[in-house]
Amino acid sequence: MQGSRLAGLAADAVETLVQRRPDAVLGLATGSSPLGVYDELASRCATGNLSLRRARAFLLDEYVGLPPEHPCAYRQVIEQELVRRVDIDPAAVLGPHGGREDLGAACQDYEHAIREAGGIDVQLLGIGTDGHIAFNEPGSSLGSRTRIKTLTARTRQDNSRFFPSLGQVPRHVLTQGLATIGEARHLVLLATGLAKADAVAAAVEGPVSARCPASVLQLHPHATILLDEPAASRLELASYYRECFEGKPSWQGL
Ligand code: F6R
Repeated sequence: MQGSRLAGLAADAVETLVQRRPDAVLGLATGSSPLGVYDELASRCATGNLSLRRARAFLLDEYVGLPPEHPCAYRQVIEQELVRRVDIDPAAVLGPHGGREDLGAACQDYEHAIREAGGIDVQLLGIGTDGHIAFNEPGSSLGSRTRIKTLTARTRQDNSRFFPSLGQVPRHVLTQGLATIGEARHLVLLATGLAKADAVAAAVEGPVSARCPASVLQLHPHATILLDEPAASRLELASYYRECFEGKPSWQGL
């Protein structure tokens, strides 16, 4: 599937949800994968076809040690990529507080805030080349909650494109845990490009294992994985998945 089609489908899932429930709780990912979805949401808001005025949102993760106004802090990134371009109330968009002195308390408060909001309705996800979702790196407990994690060298390298130099990519992050993510009512993972093909194959067709944290999606009752052709290229059953998608009844939605 083409990248723009993937973004349109994910935006449709958000739009359908918000039409049904204007105060829906959205789960937002950062990084490159959801950017097309944010473009779509922004253009649907601009044309008046969608309003996120009453929606609330939670970020997946945040770097530790970056001041909130730092351009690479995920709270800033989401501000630029989505919040400023739609009509959501900026105060209704929360992320884990990676600048707080007591990081353990920041994590507990974040879990509490998600629970208080009634949980996340639709969670957008990307996947790391090492199989992470949010910043749950290989070895993350499948039962994990929001906590501090150490980034792998590979993830720091992958994310260095957003920073002036590799040395400036923080080593630590606060991230929703795999169990936290698993409580969202609908998971929508987007992946594009050949660099993601091995991680996607391990997540979808490998064993459920902390070795590939994204494989935890196999346990979720409503997980949608949207892939372009290169990202899908190492799936053994790709032609069967295509057949399922093409024959999907329209009433079913994503
Ligand atoms: C970011 C996040 C990460 C990214 C992943 C893929 O909030 O949760 O899991 O989704 O690192 O990043 P991109 O999309 O930049 O390839």
